[in-house]
Amino acid sequence: MKEYQLGSSKAEIFLMLPERKVKKVILGKKTIGLLRIGEQFFAFDSQCPHRGADLLQANINGWSEIICPLHQYRFDLKTGQVRSGFCSDLPVFPVRLHEEGLTIQIPQ
Ligand code: FES
Repeated sequence: MKEYQLGSSKAEIFLMLPERKVKKVILGKKTIGLLRIGEQFFAFDSQCPHRGADLLQANINGWSEIICPLHQYRFDLKTGQVRSGFCSDLPVFPVRLHEEGLTIQIPQ
């Protein structure tokens, strides 16, 4: 597991991540999506586990689910669990907001 830090303060993170807008972040060799809903943060693989569609273009519903733009499969943003459709779960990554910014842990 490798830990990455974004920003240098909570305020900077809130400015960097407007609510409900998926942001592309490249950490090492991995491209992930980052999303803020209120004070909750989610980090997830940028590719859909079904057929690899770009989840950076995905919509978010009111149940904290991400909806793939290609076949509309839904995934729980907290756990990555597939909620509708038949494929493996979406890889999600631990993310934590603290006074010095946002920390994201990515498996190596
Ligand atoms: S590629 Fe995402 S649901 Fe099919």
